[in-house]
Amino acid sequence: MDVMQAINNRRSIRRFRSDSLSSDVIRTILDAGIKAPSGKNKQPWEFKVVTGDKRIEMVQIMREGIQAFKAKYGNVGSAEHSANIMEQAPVTIFIFNPYGTYPWQEKTIEQQIAETVDVQSVGAAIQNMILAAESLGLGSLWICDVFFAYEELCKWLKKDCQMVAALALGYTDEKPHMRPRKSLDEVTEWI
Ligand SMILES: Cc1cc2nc3c(=O)[nH]c(=O)nc-3n(C[C@H](O)[C@H](O)[C@H](O)COP(=O)(O)O)c2cc1C
Repeated sequence: MDVMQAINNRRSIRRFRSDSLSSDVIRTILDAGIKAPSGKNKQPWEFKVVTGDKRIEMVQIMREGIQAFKAKYGNVGSAEHSANIMEQAPVTIFIFNPYGTYPWQEKTIEQQIAETVDVQSVGAAIQNMILAAESLGLGSLWICDVFFAYEELCKWLKKDCQMVAALALGYTDEKPHMRPRKSLDEVTEWI
């Protein structure tokens, strides 16, 4: 599968089969991630791979975090649904920026600039991973709803740097149509 095919065929997958993934396949996807470009070649990414029975604990922690968030702030959007998807997916990879701090920590302007650059680099790594997954016949879901259980998940994963996202992976059990896109003309101005 060439890159354009992977770009065009990829969809966010929210129904996974229970089949596990081999560690070789997971490593191939991670390897695609670390080949992404990064600002100053800092490679500001670290991964925590959750598989097998650890997923049960992960989802329990996430649900507890979501409940705590709900009690404090009310709305949790699609977070509960995302936790259900993570329960189903055989693999969830958490992606961290080791140079970044928790979102609510006060930051100097230099830190803010560095984190903005580093988060873009992490985004490039995640995009590489989801396209690699597509080319290997796997489905993926990029998940930021983990922010609703930010501290709980970081503590459970023993990370005190910046969590950027999670990525659910597995063999897909659905074939969604392409989700709507704004037209190119709507978002582009030629000068
Ligand atoms: C930064 C980012 C965060 C996302 N977070 C979530 C999430 O927490 N839960 C979820 O179900 N989908 C999440 N998505 C998937 C988007 O909803 C999806 O990409 C969008 O609706 C377009 O659909 P498509 O990926 O099938 O083209 C996220 C996507 C991105 C890029």
